[in-house]
Amino acid sequence: MLTYNSTYPIGLDISELSLKLVQLNKSGEKIRVQALGKIDLPDGCFQNGEINNRQAVLGALKKLIANPKFGKITSDEVIACLPETRTFVKLIEVERADNLEEAVKLELEKHVPMAMDEIFFDWQVMAELPDRFFILAGAAPKAIVNQYTDFLKEARLSVVALEIEPISLCRSLLNEEHPKFKGKYEKNYGIIDIGAKRTNMTIYSKNTILFTISIPISGEEITKNIAEALEIEESQAEKAKIICGLDEKKAQGVIKNILSGEIEDLNKKIGEAIDFYENHFPGRGPLDKIILCGGGANIKNLDKIINKAVSIGTTMGDDLINLGEAKEKFSKILEETHSLNLDLTGKKEKKKPITITQDSSLSFATAIGLALRGVFIDEL
Ligand SMILES: Nc1ncnc2c1ncn2[C@@H]1O[C@H](COP(=O)(O)OP(=O)(O)OP(=O)(O)O)[C@@H](O)[C@H]1O
Ligand SMILES: [Mg+2]
Repeated sequence: MLTYNSTYPIGLDISELSLKLVQLNKSGEKIRVQALGKIDLPDGCFQNGEINNRQAVLGALKKLIANPKFGKITSDEVIACLPETRTFVKLIEVERADNLEEAVKLELEKHVPMAMDEIFFDWQVMAELPDRFFILAGAAPKAIVNQYTDFLKEARLSVVALEIEPISLCRSLLNEEHPKFKGKYEKNYGIIDIGAKRTNMTIYSKNTILFTISIPISGEEITKNIAEALEIEESQAEKAKIICGLDEKKAQGVIKNILSGEIEDLNKKIGEAIDFYENHFPGRGPLDKIILCGGGANIKNLDKIINKAVSIGTTMGDDLINLGEAKEKFSKILEETHSLNLDLTGKKEKKKPITITQDSSLSFATAIGLALRGVFIDEL
């Protein structure tokens, strides 16, 4: 019997082109998904991370809460993420000081490309040496934090926390982030989130994020390029991208060529991030694994292509890893079907709609991580 009695806060991923939410519940020791859903947003709702069209986003959010794809929302508390491009997170070294807060602030000033009186920052000690601390510090512009808080209040939600996205991603994708993790904190990961608006790589080592880098690739841009090359509508190009992928027999190989070019750039950037990591953190050992998430990770064989290019084991992320849910059940719930009635075969006589079904779980990694924050805090 399903009971909708969760008091855990909603995890809300506010992205520029969609909103995604997850509410978790516990049944015994098991963390279960009580509700989950996604709604697309029209173009132009955001600009540079700031909410441009409040009414449109508000309307979509209310609709999503009232009618999620799965389950039922039973909380008016929310943990949301801040726009990734406007936030900062990094492991910094701070010498022992009487006033550690002040010392962190002074060090942070050297790293954050914003004036200190214009940002909110938060920090936590990750490791302690006799003379210094390793501190994970996060920062976001006050203007953005205030705007998001006001917006969520307007939606009649009570804000438990606003989080920096890579932190949420690590929580949903890594066993190490579970408060009851029993293993050794010895692995190093590169987590790559390929989204509609941007791509980001997070380097995580042992038990902490070290740094993140942004990669200039986005699902939206790939779709635009396909629309232009094939002279079709963007909505059709979006489907064509998902359906044809890297299959060179489809659409005369045009989509494959566009995607291959983007993947080549992606591999170059991943290589640079790995070099930076190896040069700056030689004591931490090589990266053990690259983990892919975000909708763009669904490009068929992308894991194998990256693996071959950078010689590091690459896998699709599993954002259910810290939950007690059966993967198959959620793959089914999160199945998306894309159908296209265009001739992309190159054989003009054939015109049957092409349909594919794919699992969209990897788009929920952020929302799951945000929702997990509420549950994990409760467990500590
Ligand atoms: N099979 C596929 N091949 C290529 N791209 C895909 C595939 N499936 C989904 N995508 C792309 O993934 C993107 C959506 O991913 P996701 O839901 O992670 O983005 P988002 O979180 O809304 O965006 P962002 O994180 O950039 O704000 C879209 O651009 C979509 O075209
Ligand atoms: Mg995203």
